[in-house]
Parts: sequence; C-alpha cells; structure tokens
Amino acid sequence: MSDNSPYEQHLDLNSPNRNLAPLSTSVDQKGRLVVGGCVLSNLAACYGTPLYVIDEESIRVACRTYVNALHKKYQGPSLALYASKANSSLALSRIIASEGMGVDVVSAGELLTALNAGVATEKIVLHGNNKSNAELQLAYQNDVTIVIDNRYDIEQLQGIASEVRPARLMLRFTPGIECHTHEYIKTGHLDSKFGFDPDQLESILRELIGCKWAKLTGLHAHIGSQIFELEPHQDLASVMVDALQLAREIGHPIEDLNVGGGLGIRYVSEDDPPSIDDWVALVSEAVMKACRSRNLDLPRLLCEPGRSLVAPSCVTLYTIGSRKTIPGIRTYISVDGGMSDNPRPITYQSLYTTCLADRPNSKAEEKVTIAGKHCESGDVLLKDVELPPSNSGDVLVVFSTGAYNASMSSNYNRIPRPAAVIVRDGHADLILKREQPEDLLIYDLMPERLIEVG
Ligand code: LLP
Repeated sequence: MSDNSPYEQHLDLNSPNRNLAPLSTSVDQKGRLVVGGCVLSNLAACYGTPLYVIDEESIRVACRTYVNALHKKYQGPSLALYASKANSSLALSRIIASEGMGVDVVSAGELLTALNAGVATEKIVLHGNNKSNAELQLAYQNDVTIVIDNRYDIEQLQGIASEVRPARLMLRFTPGIECHTHEYIKTGHLDSKFGFDPDQLESILRELIGCKWAKLTGLHAHIGSQIFELEPHQDLASVMVDALQLAREIGHPIEDLNVGGGLGIRYVSEDDPPSIDDWVALVSEAVMKACRSRNLDLPRLLCEPGRSLVAPSCVTLYTIGSRKTIPGIRTYISVDGGMSDNPRPITYQSLYTTCLADRPNSKAEEKVTIAGKHCESGDVLLKDVELPPSNSGDVLVVFSTGAYNASMSSNYNRIPRPAAVIVRDGHADLILKREQPEDLLIYDLMPERLIEVG
C-alpha cells in the first residue's frame, strides 16, 4: 500500500491492537483492497452487504501475542481469557480456544456458544451483575467458574451447589480506580453496578469461609474498556494483591488473580494505544512486585481482553446508495447499514476509519458524512471524513469493527443483521448467516381475536 493510506502507516506486526487494518491487508495489482487473500469487493458481490469480514490471521496473532507475553513476562502460571461479549460466535470461540485461551461469558447465550464451540469447561468463566437462576445452574452443571458479583449470586448458589461438589468461584470487587474512557464503559470506579464494594470485601470473605458449597479460588476486577493509560492497570494490580493477601489470610485457597480486560485499540490514526506486550509486561511486573513485597506466592494471572483481541481483525463492507448535498453545509453519503450493525458511533460517539474497497489509495477529494439507513438523524457512522469521488454501488470499508459491533447489533427498523465471513489464504467461510426480513417475523404472534376482527 502506498504511504498515503492512513491504515498502512500503522502496520505493527507484533501488536494487532495498534493497527487500523487487519494484519493481512494488501492491495492487488488492480488497486483493490484485499484481506486474508480475498478481494473485498468480490466478497461484497458474493455475500452481499453489509458484511463483517474477519481476518483469521489477525485473531490468531493477537491471541499468540497475549499468550506469549504472559509466558515471557509473568513468572507464575497464567491464562488469557477472551471476553466473548466483544463478539461471540461458534467459529471465533473455536479459533481462540485452539490458541490455548479460555473464554469469559456473561449470559446463557454466550455460555452455550463457548460450550458448543468446544471450549474446555475449566477455561470458562461466567460473569454478570444479575445472573438468572438458570444461568447459574447451567454454569454449575458444567463445572464452569462463577464470578460472584453480589449477595444475590450467593443466595441463589446456596440453593444450587452442594457440599459434595462445591461451586468453583471467583469474587468480583470494585477496585475504586478511575480511568479515562467513555462514562458508559467505566467499571472500576466506586459508583459502579458491578462487584462488591471494597468496604464489604472482608465481611464477605469471612462469610464465604463458612459456606461448604463454595470454593473460592479467585479474585476479579475490571476497570473499564478502551483504556490508553497504563497506570490504572498498575494501580489495579496492587489493589488486587492486597485483596489476595486478605483472602488468603482469612483461609481461602486463592490461586487466580483476574485483572480483567480494557486495553484500547487504534480506531483512527491519532489513537496511540500501548502495545499488548507493554500492557502484559506492566501488569505482570506490577503483580509480581506487589506479591514479592508482601511475601506471597504468585497466583495464576488471568486477564480478559475483548476489544484488543478481535476489533482490528474485522472490517465491515457497505454498499453506497444515495447522496445528498446541502450546499455550504454537508454532503451525506448513505450506506445500506448503520446503527443496527454498528451502534458504537451513536452510543459512544466513537470514531472510525474508512476507505473505498476498490480505490483505497485514490486521492481524497471531498469531505463527506457517512450516514446509515435507519430512520434516525443520529444514525451517522462517520462524520466529516475525506473520501475520493464515489458512486452508488461502490463498496465502502469501515475498519476495526470486530468488537462490540455484531455483538451489540439490533433489528432496529426491522433491518436484518449482516452476515459474517472469516477469511484466510484467499478462502472465505461464512460463520454467521445473513438474517432475512422474513426471519424477523418468526417470533411475532397474531392473537386469534385480531384475525377474527379483520
Ligand atoms: N472483562 C469484563 C468483566 C468486562 O466487563 C469487559 C468489558 C471485558 C473483560 C473486556 O474488556 P475489553 O478488553 O473489551 O475492553 N460496548 C462497549 C464496551 C463495553 C465493555 C464491557 N466490558 C464499547 O463498544 O466500547
């Protein structure tokens, strides 16, 4: 790719979270953008748009980067878990598990996906601030580790788990750490719906010692998402090691310290997140240092990346449709998807990077706003971006859509969800079927009396 492609200026083979484009991105002799050996506009023609295109190489490299960094930097045992809320599917879970990682889940749906993908049950962790009884039962029956978040979890588990086979538990607490990210995706500050308050920690740990149905083997905290600072994670490590010391003193056989996820990625060229290696090195050193100074045996170190593992692997393809120019104000270019396949811009004012699939390196000549097709003025995917001249029918590529796009998608306006393909070595496999408008009617019921009335 030539130097004027913003995504090429950020090709960091060792840290997928610092790339704007999937690792395998290239341009063919005709100047068309290629991912995983597949020409993107051909994928659009074959599978339709909107289409999520996932690069298998990027996912595997990201997994290996986390797993290898933990092995290299942390002197005790470790396990990286994929936070599957970022993008949960059978195929992704399977690929990630094949790289030796576990999976964290937050619902029966995510848990069933991980189980059906063949993820080993000892590598699955169930989170959630309001787990249903059915979700807790499913996790317990499958010997999945359950993260207790509040008293309601404990009350429910008392009726589910038995002394004969105690439930394997981690305890989540709020570490009271502030970080700079969007208000909605902060979780580690004191005013959070997640986890036990630090003031309650000791009493809850003492209470659990008396519960024969419970085997508390881990502690968990998570401070937020899309974080570029390293310090909050360093502070978290020492707060967690304090809690580890307390829990062990009280008599819990704590083996696991789970520091959550949160490492940010590059969505636009100005973003400059730390690399995965630097993040893992910092967290590992902070945990080791805190343990050494308190004379504690090193716990197994767990982390739960979501976004940094999968976001940069994926691009979304759209077809350009209508255009509206308001002289002196703005030109809108509308595409065939929008807030239902990517709710992040309207929810968090998130920025993205885009280009034309068949002219990625053509000179940008106009400033345009890319709008979605939903009946809502705020349905804008990218505001005021530079693009070369484009026509209806051209395929538009939006980068870094692998996390919290498909998983947060909706059927707003009864628009069907897109298909997803995974690409590798010139081959594409469909991993999510495209919904059809008719599919959206299958849960609707028409009461008899309304039929009679006509
Ligand atoms: N562990 C726990 C307990 C979490 O709640 C999360 C994310 C993660 C791990 C993974 O965090 P990550 O590595 O992806 O930052 N929908 C928002 C993000 C919400 C994050 C929720 N929790 C967005 O689109 O930005």
